[in-house]
Amino acid sequence: MPAETTLDPVIVTMTGNEHRELSELQKSILRLKEEKNAVILAHNYQVAEIQDVADHVGDSLGLAYNAQETDADVICFCGVHFMAETAKIINPGKRVILPDLEAGCSLSDSCPADKLAAYKEKNPNDYVVAYINCSAGVKALADVICTSGNAVKIVQQVPEDRDILFVPDQNLGQWVARQTNRRIKLWPGSCYAHILFSKDQIERLKLDYPGAPVVAHPECVESVRLMADEVCSTEKMVHYCKSSPADTFIIVTETGMLHRLRNEIPNKSFIAGPTENCACNDCRFMKLNTLEKLHSCLETLEPEIDVDPDVIEKAKPPIQRMLDWSAS
Ligand code: 13P
Ligand code: SF4
Repeated sequence: MPAETTLDPVIVTMTGNEHRELSELQKSILRLKEEKNAVILAHNYQVAEIQDVADHVGDSLGLAYNAQETDADVICFCGVHFMAETAKIINPGKRVILPDLEAGCSLSDSCPADKLAAYKEKNPNDYVVAYINCSAGVKALADVICTSGNAVKIVQQVPEDRDILFVPDQNLGQWVARQTNRRIKLWPGSCYAHILFSKDQIERLKLDYPGAPVVAHPECVESVRLMADEVCSTEKMVHYCKSSPADTFIIVTETGMLHRLRNEIPNKSFIAGPTENCACNDCRFMKLNTLEKLHSCLETLEPEIDVDPDVIEKAKPPIQRMLDWSAS
């Protein structure tokens, strides 16, 4: 007779129809999560094993709403620093933790708060629209925040008589300017990972998959955006690929996105967009979070995200304005 065991497999139900058996480490993470009354929010670029234990997997906008709505005591943010900081600004009374504090963002770093403050001194009438990929200090200087999922909608609501400064992503800002016909001044920042995708390599790949629509993130350079069939946020990629009649897609963004797409749309195929040197592209910051670090951070509730209360006070209104304008 087989020995009785209490180690029954824990089966996780995915957002799609897939059921996956969890590893011991993943099961332990789920137990710790219950013990600490924590919610795990994971960005679409996180490694598959982290996405599989998260309560919510989504884009920056969706996760900001999830952070606003949660009644958990602890928000464990599996993403990069500015995302966890945003969750803290929305929930100053909650403990917000990030598996690896070094998970930064090159785009966020390209716009230091002191440089933006100096610019604003000289241009006091500019309406500052800040992409959520920026520090809390930059958010505190902005009039409104946006994500790639709502940037067009947000810019359309900026008063017509105001000049707009868009920080820090020049590529997203340029794309929004084209969509809205608004004159926008662009801060010279960019995402080190998205600007590597190459139009020539994507064209070469298309020879093998002539019917596959190209779906690109707006942080890509204009030559890539122009050849794309759809330019959108990571969350909108899921909706686009679900509703499109095509069965194969070239996905021009960070590779974590492929796991989300394959989970939710198992009957279709997704091919990573290439750079000049590689068949796909990871964000080195997003990939700093690992299952082991997630486990240890739930055990110790460290590293904790700490934001100066004065900065929180100033950064909250532009974030709330985004959430309100986006829902309207
Ligand atoms: P999304 O909001 O579209 O998920 O993008 C976040 C990001 O960091 C893209 O590089
Ligand atoms: Fe920042 Fe680019 Fe990584 Fe997104 S992919 S977190 S913009 S470095």
